[in-house]
Amino acid sequence: MSKVTVVGAGNVGATCVNVLAFNEVANEIVMLDVKEGISEGKALDIMQTATLLGFDSTVVGCTSDYAQTANSDVVVITSGIPRKPGMTREELIGVNAGIVKSVSENILKYSPNAIIVIVSNPMDTMTYLTLKTTGLPKNKVIGMGGTLDSSRFKCYLSKALNVNPNELEGMVIGGHGDTTMIPLTRFASYKGRSVADLLSKEDLAKVVSDTMVGGATLTGLLGTSAWYAPGAAAAYLVESIIHNQKKVIPCCVSLEGEYGQNDICIGVPVVIGKNGIEEILDYKLNEEEAALFAKSAAAVRSTNDVLKEINVL
Ligand code: LAC
Repeated sequence: MSKVTVVGAGNVGATCVNVLAFNEVANEIVMLDVKEGISEGKALDIMQTATLLGFDSTVVGCTSDYAQTANSDVVVITSGIPRKPGMTREELIGVNAGIVKSVSENILKYSPNAIIVIVSNPMDTMTYLTLKTTGLPKNKVIGMGGTLDSSRFKCYLSKALNVNPNELEGMVIGGHGDTTMIPLTRFASYKGRSVADLLSKEDLAKVVSDTMVGGATLTGLLGTSAWYAPGAAAAYLVESIIHNQKKVIPCCVSLEGEYGQNDICIGVPVVIGKNGIEEILDYKLNEEEAALFAKSAAAVRSTNDVLKEINVL
């Protein structure tokens, strides 16, 4: 029996639950929200697709009743407010830090062995906050950002190259911010051929800049934060944990010397399996990439510092 809880039944949380159920990632999926009726309603709506889509997972919704989340193997935290057009993810910290902190405390009361996946923004800082306040081992706290950013990178690459995105390799490391993420063009390839050999410098630079503002572009179009890809990215991560797939996914994880960083959670390529983070992979960044990574880490660190200023850490 496997059980997954998704906290937050907003667009991202509900999409995540929908993908988890459709793909039968877990036997039982619990969706919890503070707003009365929302998670119950969305869970019932999703359950009414079971015979149409042919899945056997059970989806249950509840309003702030953490007892129903007991013994979850994985918990996805999407709680908090999304950004509005023109806002950065970092501006959400004041509201979301308190929410994420109390959610993780409540979750661990009933699921002390759970692996926690953080989606709430600013994601790198919320991952760091969760690691610090829960005292969980570092393999059990995973931030989702790079999973999403890498799928956006491959989406923009596939458009530029006019190829199937599933035939592409591409990773985004660093912070999950408009100016902090680092699409690794040197490691991006189309069936083993480097994309740098297939695209002009200008076209590749445009793919990189479009990827970096991928979330902001959608926020501008939608009037709120995106949800299909963020929800699916969280579900993709959960699937690699529950089914012990050992996929290599760029995720926000605690670094202790890797990539020259300490006391920070930031995106790097990791192996994700039943223990959460199974291994941090060393991609041997060149000088230019390492400089971008150090700059990204400095920006993430300055957002982390706000946690102390607002007394949540
Ligand atoms: C985005 C939000 C979820 O990138 O951070 O769409």
